Amino acid sequence: MAANPTGVGGHENGWAKTFRTDNWWVGPAVTFAGLSAWLLYYFWAAWTDANYAAGPYMSPFYPFYLHHAPEGGHAAFFGMLPGWWPALISPALVAGFAPGAFRITCYYYRKAYYRAFFGTPPGCAVGARPQDYRGETFLLVFQNLHRYALYGALLLLPYLYYEAAMGFFHEGEFGVGLGSIIMVMNCVFLSFYTLGCHAWRHLVGGQLNCFSCGAVPRLRYGAWQGVTKLNENHMRWAWTSLIWIAFTDLYIRLVAMGVITDPNTWGGF
Ligand code: FES
Repeated sequence: MAANPTGVGGHENGWAKTFRTDNWWVGPAVTFAGLSAWLLYYFWAAWTDANYAAGPYMSPFYPFYLHHAPEGGHAAFFGMLPGWWPALISPALVAGFAPGAFRITCYYYRKAYYRAFFGTPPGCAVGARPQDYRGETFLLVFQNLHRYALYGALLLLPYLYYEAAMGFFHEGEFGVGLGSIIMVMNCVFLSFYTLGCHAWRHLVGGQLNCFSCGAVPRLRYGAWQGVTKLNENHMRWAWTSLIWIAFTDLYIRLVAMGVITDPNTWGGF
């Protein structure tokens, strides 16, 4: 019988070596392509600093609380950016910090991009480069800040709902457009992703010895069950919300540029 070449974890030694016979590389490859495409689009959309509003619609990449206000719509919370602000750092880039930190430290995304971008390891029972694998130590201890990033993401949700609600009022007149519906769906998908967070699940239902001992624990148990349902599909909501937020920006951008017309009850903008 030949010598057993098995290394640590039951796979052959060496990067990307494995005894697996399935197409294990498809997942990391799709993740690499999807995240790369999304990041390219986001940075382009954030740097353009234009076409972020159409009628009552506002791109979720461009929050009004930093400086922009949709044409004829609600005013910015904090006024305009000061004159010395570097043009390269658009408000969309600043606004992307909190949700970006939330996604980068997300337990699901960590698994996904460690595999797809760094190959440490590229898949289950697939060889990593042992000299490169140190676990989440050194600089990667920042991943422990996920719970704090969650607080930031939770604070942003009401803003997004407010922004979506404003999408039903064009120059003070109530109405409905395809853009309004797309913005509401964006809020719902982002809520499903945020409220399915592992750290949120722990905050909602953790550190309890008894779920049925009193009204508050029972309430928390009910909430924990709901969060658990979302958590079981965390990857699905991570991707759905990621794709939809870019789609929302793209839709509003195309309407703003006059490339497409938004069907709505206002009869145009
Ligand atoms: S674990 Fe994914 S958002 Fe918290």
